Amino acid sequence: MEERTIRSRLEGISKAAHPDLGDLEFLLSVETGEEKAEIFSFADTVRREGVGDSVFLRGLVEFSSYCSNTCLYCGLNRSNLSLERYRLSFEEILASAAAIAARGIGTIVLQSGEDGSEAGFIARVVSEIKDRYGLAVTLSVGERSRADYGLWREAGADRYLLRIESSDPALYEALHVGRRFETRLRCLVDLRELGYQVGSGVMVGLPGQTPRTLAGDIRFFREMDFDMVGIGPFIPHPDTPLRDAAPGVVDTTLLMIALTRIVTGNAHLPATTALGSMGGRDYRIEGLKAGANVIMPNFTPTERKRLYAIYPGKRCVDEPSGACVFCMEGLATLAGLHIDYSRGDSLKTHDASACLNGGASVF
Ligand code: 5AD
Ligand code: FES
Repeated sequence: MEERTIRSRLEGISKAAHPDLGDLEFLLSVETGEEKAEIFSFADTVRREGVGDSVFLRGLVEFSSYCSNTCLYCGLNRSNLSLERYRLSFEEILASAAAIAARGIGTIVLQSGEDGSEAGFIARVVSEIKDRYGLAVTLSVGERSRADYGLWREAGADRYLLRIESSDPALYEALHVGRRFETRLRCLVDLRELGYQVGSGVMVGLPGQTPRTLAGDIRFFREMDFDMVGIGPFIPHPDTPLRDAAPGVVDTTLLMIALTRIVTGNAHLPATTALGSMGGRDYRIEGLKAGANVIMPNFTPTERKRLYAIYPGKRCVDEPSGACVFCMEGLATLAGLHIDYSRGDSLKTHDASACLNGGASVF
């Protein structure tokens, strides 16, 4: 049988509602620079057609590092007793929102560990930010009840980030002791049904992950038709059970971003901070060139940034809050793109069948 070219496989996955796992696995495993360059260039074309040459900014505020969860990979997991924890007050969060608005950035991302924050508190924060600054508000506070998600949506929250972490139920449950994959999916479906723009994503290089698992993740992103997909390398944290695991490989992460761009078309894909924190080098430019179109400058107050230690070596923790914006302009230019300060809402028009029918194969 004739060997299929990279080009024909790329064209195949870009059109398919259920991209072929064999093709994805093959493309994730290419080894030569030439083959990778072909995939990145295809992704670049899809990005330009899908989302143009803009890089959107999301101002990130990590408002609490308390967490009741025990994710094996995460430095914030509750078993890490050596980490000093913090929680920002209402006014501190609003001050960060003011700084984001003052820079002309259109979106704030409010992220925390699974702190169990009182739902009413988050609702008040969201509605005050909308009233005072009119920012698009993205929440990222983990698994909560549909009622809480609904309350926050009514308070004005526009978007929600909840990474699936792995679309393989067995791997998911091995990494999240006592948690159910099904619950995670339920949350994602609840969020979509409540009218949020929904973001998900995975880490690359988790112990137990194979090219087949990653291929499944990419297919899952397509089938769920997410508005946003965050992909970053796994970076082992010394105070977690996975301290001795190998870190994710940069090129595999870049291929994951590129192939996700190719199958999702116009989803928003961040060049993640983790990708900027690998061994002291910033690979976010490569991320942008591989199909990403979002960067998330950090607006957490400087004295707290270091304490939000999901993984070690996180970049820019000593920079004054918000200083990153200048770097962002540079990053975008180096990638041949330009910063767009607008809200950068989802470009997807979900037809009713997209998420629920398309995702049916995973339920
Ligand atoms: N390395 C890289 N990314 C991590 N995350 C959690 N722990 C790590 C780690 N050790 C990611 C998860 C989470 C996001 C906020 O950070 O995917 O959803
Ligand atoms: Fe809770 Fe990471 S384990 S935020």
